[in-house]
Amino acid sequence: MSVVLQRTGQKMPLVGFGLWKVTKASCADTVYNAIKAGYRLLDGAGDYGNEKEAGEGVKRAIAEGLVKREDLFITSKLWNTFHAKEHVKPIAQMQLGLWGIEYFDLFLVHFPIALQYVDPAERYPPEWQDAAKKVVTLQGTPIQETWQSMEELVDVGIAKNIGISNFQGSLIADMLRYARIKPQVLQIELHPYLTQEALVKYAKEVGLAITAYSSFGPASWIELSMDQGAPSLLDHDVVSAAATKHNKTTAQVLLRWATQRDIAVVPKSNNPSRLAQNLDCLSFDLSAEEMKEISALNFNLRLNNPADIDPRMAIFA
Ligand SMILES: NC(=O)c1ccc[n+]([C@@H]2O[C@H](COP(=O)([O-])OP(=O)(O)OC[C@H]3O[C@@H](n4cnc5c(N)ncnc54)[C@H](OP(=O)(O)O)[C@@H]3O)[C@@H](O)[C@H]2O)c1
Repeated sequence: MSVVLQRTGQKMPLVGFGLWKVTKASCADTVYNAIKAGYRLLDGAGDYGNEKEAGEGVKRAIAEGLVKREDLFITSKLWNTFHAKEHVKPIAQMQLGLWGIEYFDLFLVHFPIALQYVDPAERYPPEWQDAAKKVVTLQGTPIQETWQSMEELVDVGIAKNIGISNFQGSLIADMLRYARIKPQVLQIELHPYLTQEALVKYAKEVGLAITAYSSFGPASWIELSMDQGAPSLLDHDVVSAAATKHNKTTAQVLLRWATQRDIAVVPKSNNPSRLAQNLDCLSFDLSAEEMKEISALNFNLRLNNPADIDPRMAIFA
């Protein structure tokens, strides 16, 4: 199952594999195993620090005849330190080189935040703060400048589709006023504790496909001590009841809850059996009542908020 992207008509798989926190050491094998298990979408980013290794996994899968490049949908993202017009194309080209591929199927602006440029020869990925992990240095590049450079990536064939991540309604509305090539995908944090109904409705209205990240809510944030003590969604009574009824796992229910709203998901797992289980989440339907009960768990819990790093980055305020 897939979502058809506007402008190109390209099909984006509804279930992909997320690459954040997949370690360098395991990434090539994990990507290879994900493709072998049937994943066709890989959700990467410069910031994840594993693009070279992910590319090695892709290369091996192609060399062994598991897939052709055109069977895969490879996403990467522009990091905050590369928003200025002179940096977008060179970094996208560098990222393609790391992956060892000719084009990205989708390239996203990771955050609507511009930070001071860091030369990749000095430090890559640059992350949020300086080398000492203390200071965040903002930069005055407007999104319009960044977006025009993103459009050039399409013009020259570096990216087939371009999009945005962690953007909210008013900024999207502004982009749509000037975009020569409209963003095609919006990737956002979305799970039953943060259902984002208004943003989803607006995005669909303006033809943006949506990808949810952190579909399991706090689970991914525990290892970073950033789960805010929220109760697990994977053990939640409401989710467990639906899982028991459909003879599925709670993880599969959480993924189906999103995909049933035509929202793509990119679960990450370092474990081969969970990785396979997550892909197998489209073979059942939740009832309207179950969908409603799960959505009612919402309490606007946002786990990924750059304002927690520096209050000047309060993009969700
Ligand atoms: N655009 C953005 O700003 C942004 C931000 C965050 C994430 N993302 C993207 O979204 C992807 C997914 O989000 P995420 O990495 O935050 O987390 P996630 O997929 O919601 O959750 C991952 C966590 O759940 C566990 N898990 C995975 N499958 C499971 C299963 N079937 N049963 C029980 N536990 C399971 C994983 O542990 P194991 O690995 O041990 O299985 C890991 O701790 C990322 O990898 C990245 O590609 C984008």
